[in-house]
Amino acid sequence: MTEMSVAVAGFGWMGRVHAQAYLRLRQSYPELPAIRLVCVADDVPGRGVEAAEQFGFDSCTQDWRNIAADPAIDAVSITAPNFLHREMGVALAEAGKHIWIEKPVGLSTEDAKAVAVGVDAAGVQAAVGFNYRNAPAVALAKNLITSGELGTITFTVPISQ
Ligand SMILES: NC(=O)c1ccc[n+]([C@@H]2O[C@H](COP(=O)([O-])OP(=O)(O)OC[C@H]3O[C@@H](n4cnc5c(N)ncnc54)[C@H](O)[C@@H]3O)[C@@H](O)[C@H]2O)c1
Repeated sequence: MTEMSVAVAGFGWMGRVHAQAYLRLRQSYPELPAIRLVCVADDVPGRGVEAAEQFGFDSCTQDWRNIAADPAIDAVSITAPNFLHREMGVALAEAGKHIWIEKPVGLSTEDAKAVAVGVDAAGVQAAVGFNYRNAPAVALAKNLITSGELGTITFTVPISQ
């Protein structure tokens, strides 16, 4: 694969962040295929047009379902509000799109599980937008833990704290 075609669904704060990340991806990972920004979807009139002009998307739409229907799109960032994650995540996975979906996935554990089930059934890849997953210090900590170098971890801070 020499080029990967991506779309962004929901162009608010995180939609911009994802678009910026795609544009500079190869600065950190030069071995990856080039990213082509194919389509941006936002239901607010004009927002997609602005995004396309500013970030270089080939096209824009007010209906994210057009992204699901486009066979040229490989992967989609789901950066719309949480109440849309379940519907978008399941439909886009079913359409064969790999998804990078923002946290939290949906409004409930059931929503998140439904997206996971849809992703598994479709055999696509999915990632949740945890910002620090690939930060070098976090990766090192993970390696120290999984290699056993730190011994048995006996205490972790609950996520809600
Ligand atoms: N990873 C992080 O650190 C982080 C930080 C902030 C937000 N988030 C998550 O990112 C997601 C988006 O948050 P945000 O702060 O960017 O919100 P936002 O309100 O700035 O952006 C959401 C965008 O989705 C659009 N939208 C709404 N309905 C739509 C529809 N039917 N079709 C297409 N677009 C639609 C809105 O018009 C808006 O432009 C949320 O899930 C949020 O929890 C993650």
